[in-house]
Amino acid sequence: MNQARRPLIAGNWKMNHGAASGVQLASDVARTTAAFGSVDVVVAPPFSALWKVADALQGSRVELSAQNMHPKASGAFTGEVAPGMLLEIGCKWVILGHSERRAMFGESDAVVAEKVKAAMDAGIRPIVCVGETLDERERGDTLNVVKRQLNAFLSIIADKPGFAAIAYEPVWAIGTGKVATTAEAQEVHAMIRASLAAIGPAMAEKTRILYGGSLSPKNADGLLREPDIDGGLIGGASLKAEDFSKVAETAQKIAGQRLVSRPLVSS
Ligand code: PGA
Repeated sequence: MNQARRPLIAGNWKMNHGAASGVQLASDVARTTAAFGSVDVVVAPPFSALWKVADALQGSRVELSAQNMHPKASGAFTGEVAPGMLLEIGCKWVILGHSERRAMFGESDAVVAEKVKAAMDAGIRPIVCVGETLDERERGDTLNVVKRQLNAFLSIIADKPGFAAIAYEPVWAIGTGKVATTAEAQEVHAMIRASLAAIGPAMAEKTRILYGGSLSPKNADGLLREPDIDGGLIGGASLKAEDFSKVAETAQKIAGQRLVSRPLVSS
């Protein structure tokens, strides 16, 4: 993690927790992360729980995210939810292009880009996911695949440096317990940072790049110490407030150590 970028820890609940248990989990997350003032904390419940979870988070530092969204403002799109509807209930963030949506719901790079544009235009902060499959990694295609996915939306998020976040999630590490090594993750994060730098220094300095894929209290310390890893997008370990807040606590501790070793104001 780098001092210029506040660590961001986001929980992707996927299709887990309805409104009742979601309110409980969100309240527990708000309470157990309240002291971690150097870390931005986000939870992404399913659509049906957003409204009640938003209420439960009132007055806390935890921000609300959706897991998906339709790019259009309204219309005949049965089963879909528009950007304005998310804003209305207090969503500040939306996860876009998650590998499960790409693989199971046919979201192409072009569809993801359209959604990213709609989120940026509406003022919702996208967390855009990229990542290679096991096949692609084994073929030595990791950097090419991630670059292709990135290039579809980089110019769109360049309008407001730091507004969007990017999540590198190797598909083979998601929900498998098989976490990327710190070196594997940092290599891809560094490539993403270089692509951001090619747009301009503000993009590279301000855009948070999260790691996702079996991130847990056990492996968070090593990953979050890497220079280009600015936080995490957490699935399984976000379903228990205790595990999720331990990852946030690790991010808080590392951020604190960085400030001590490199004080902003010299005495
Ligand atoms: P996981 O999921 O932490 O359960 O691997 C991460 C994600 O899919 O965002």
